[in-house]
Amino acid sequence: MDKKAYVGTNFKMYKTICETEEYLVKLKKLTGQLPEEIAEIFVIPSFTALPAAGAIVKDSRIKLGAQNMCWEDMGPFTGEISPVMLKEFGTEIVEIGHSERRHTFGETDEEERKKVRKALEHGLIPLLCVGETLQQRKRGIGDEILSMQIKTALYNLPLRQMEKIRIAYEPVWAIGVNGIPAEPQYVAGRHSHMRDLLIDMLGERSGNCIPLIYGGSVNLKNAKQFIGMENVDGLFVGRSAWDVENFWRIIQEVLYQ
Ligand code: PGA
Repeated sequence: MDKKAYVGTNFKMYKTICETEEYLVKLKKLTGQLPEEIAEIFVIPSFTALPAAGAIVKDSRIKLGAQNMCWEDMGPFTGEISPVMLKEFGTEIVEIGHSERRHTFGETDEEERKKVRKALEHGLIPLLCVGETLQQRKRGIGDEILSMQIKTALYNLPLRQMEKIRIAYEPVWAIGVNGIPAEPQYVAGRHSHMRDLLIDMLGERSGNCIPLIYGGSVNLKNAKQFIGMENVDGLFVGRSAWDVENFWRIIQEVLYQ
């Protein structure tokens, strides 16, 4: 790759503290020699594993992320987690609006917007997840949905704040065991739409510097195809990355194409 690649995984609600520790100790060893300029590796475990994970990835090449957060610092929000609490463990990235948050838990664009703003206020990097459903794709409104999700999430933010976000494009229909793998050409089309939108909103320089990461049924076989597409700056991997050796193979596919 001639530019920095972003490769990460979200453990969803799968790994325990012990399993996360074991995984990260191995990944830290495997990624120890990766030059910083060519890759950013991030891992997003469950909340309960964050303290142990934070201690392991400290001084490593792995950035730690959280799967969600509240849009307030503190208050009567039973069951929620605050950005202040996430930062106590060295969390640097926060996933906002993952498809499962939007579609299983009913989060709205407006809630994602509040979370993005709050994350930035605390110096956390928002990893904004966007994507259309199969029905929206069939109706030909995929790009409109992406525009709406991105424009709402970035609404009224100062330019220097907007520059800090990252976007993960994850078509809802391509995620998980029942996901239909997306065609690389289709992904390239959506990424190019998002790039144009960002340039329109932020200007040429800033619009080009926001990483656009693809996720949804990424695996060892298709990783190279996706990363080879224009405007695909990284990969966000679920199932195929949960075995650490396999994740490492995917990282190598991405970096040494
Ligand atoms: P998957 O998950 O790679 O298992 O499809 C992707 C995601 O939910 O981010």
